[in-house]
Amino acid sequence: PDRLRVAVLGCGSVGSQVVRLLDEQADDLAARVGAPVELAGVAVRRLEAPREVEVPDGLLTTDATALVTRDDVDLVIEVIGGIEPARSLILAALESGKSVVTANKALLAEDGPTLFEAAEKVGRDLYYEAAVAGAIPILRPLRESLAGDRVTRVLGIVNGTTNFILDRMDTSGAGFTEALEEAQELGYAEADPTADVEGFDAAAKAAILASLAFHSRVTANDVHREGISDVTAADVASARDMNSVVKLLAICELRDGVGGDDAVSVRVHPAMIPRSHPLASVREAYNAVFVESEAAGQLMFYGPGAGGAPTASAVLGDLVTVARNRLADTRGAGESAYADRAVLPMGET
Ligand code: HSE
Repeated sequence: PDRLRVAVLGCGSVGSQVVRLLDEQADDLAARVGAPVELAGVAVRRLEAPREVEVPDGLLTTDATALVTRDDVDLVIEVIGGIEPARSLILAALESGKSVVTANKALLAEDGPTLFEAAEKVGRDLYYEAAVAGAIPILRPLRESLAGDRVTRVLGIVNGTTNFILDRMDTSGAGFTEALEEAQELGYAEADPTADVEGFDAAAKAAILASLAFHSRVTANDVHREGISDVTAADVASARDMNSVVKLLAICELRDGVGGDDAVSVRVHPAMIPRSHPLASVREAYNAVFVESEAAGQLMFYGPGAGGAPTASAVLGDLVTVARNRLADTRGAGESAYADRAVLPMGET
């Protein structure tokens, strides 16, 4: 094709930044991809709603299914979130030959294999860098840059809301409830903070990290999960006395499995880490992922893990890759070949 046409599903805080960047960076994107990348449509729930970005006339639609299956659409960006209708829309897009970029961690962690198989079947790309740790490039390093190494452990602070709360408890001596209220006032935590504070969000991200780090298929159900709502000011104070800090960690490890084969263990829980560890320096709502591998040793990836523009940065990076592949008519490494490795139930160690 002489140009690539993009459908965006969802126009919330991430979608509106994607639409903005597609417009503002149009010339650079065209140069990097090798052809103009044009917005074909934006699917929303309601046409009349306050939005952070002005969508050009005639591009808004409430019929997402019609948009993703339109002949003139080449690439689909899904930033609606949640399981349905996102899953049906991604499957419909792939089945009609579109390449897909998504930021949907919950869906990937629950039902990634269905999506990967659908992409495989039609020979199209499915990329999702934005699903874990927002702007931080971490999935591509695990899937590609470290593919020749043997990753043995991934430790992540992958939920900004809980890191903000624990950081406040550490610096001001606040209790959990008070720190949560502050996180809500500042717009980090949602009115219903369950997904963040009970570790569901981090568990979904841990499943995705473990799948890529260990070339395995790990779902959210395989992850042992414990949130931070039971962490008290006294817990944080005693960690402080031991020159340590409490963090909600996603811990993905390669362990000895049955018969000496490797097995994968994944868990999310509050952990005490020494202040000298690089992860202890991750403050406020930032994210970081610490990777240990046999040849490279220790690596740390750090940055903003959420927010409209940072997440849109990761989405656009994927868009450039899938658009280039589309022009070259090749398929990239959206999902690497996976090893048939045992996953220990609920993060058993
Ligand atoms: N609620 C998430 C967080 C947003 O606090 O990190 C990014 O997935």
